Amino acid sequence: MKLEAVIFDLDGVITDTAHLHFQAWRQVACEIGIEIDETFNNTLKGISRGESLRRILHFGGCEAAFTQPQRDALASRKNGIYVDSLSQLTAQSILPGIHELLLELRERQIPTGLASVSLNAPTILNMLGIAELFTFCADAGRITHSKPDPEIFLAACDGLGVSAQRCIGIEDAQAGIDAINACGMHSIGIGAGLQHAGLRLTSTDQLTWPCLSAFWQHAQ
Ligand code: G6P
Ligand code: MG
Repeated sequence: MKLEAVIFDLDGVITDTAHLHFQAWRQVACEIGIEIDETFNNTLKGISRGESLRRILHFGGCEAAFTQPQRDALASRKNGIYVDSLSQLTAQSILPGIHELLLELRERQIPTGLASVSLNAPTILNMLGIAELFTFCADAGRITHSKPDPEIFLAACDGLGVSAQRCIGIEDAQAGIDAINACGMHSIGIGAGLQHAGLRLTSTDQLTWPCLSAFWQHAQ
């Protein structure tokens, strides 16, 4: 079977914005008396802004104390801090091997998709200078369910006009691997501690065309 597309997560696969999300959430959480650490932040990877806030409030034992307008204000304060911090991103912020892989996929005429639930994804791709290397980016604004729901990956397949079973999905979060597997796509996980990935790599620099191609052949 021919590989029809490769679909990428953004945060933690294309560039490492997880710590910027963390710094922004930590500041907002601290202002309302909740202390979060990196370990807790790992549970927010792949989770939408609103749902991340709900989990932080739950973690702080004060979910019931905030009305929806107050939550909206907190989420938008977090986003303001996060967006300010994005100004430090440049082409140097692309994780190792990713630019080379995108170029190779283009050369081989294999379509590429983006499946990130971040509403800031288009801005980030532009800042990294690689927006034009994606055939289709799923619109996070039209998604109603965060990962591990497969919705964003299915939206990417839809936009590319490919079937999930003929694609490889690449993720760094457990929720993302679960989303990829749930739609029948072949999953590659980056980083330690991920379960049920079809292939697990320790770093993005291992994401070469020979590696993807061997994984695809083996999966047939
Ligand atoms: C990605 C990140 C999450 C983040 C989500 C929404 O999935 O892994 O940590 O909460 O995007 O990002 P946004 O930029 O829309 O707040
Ligand atoms: Mg990620």
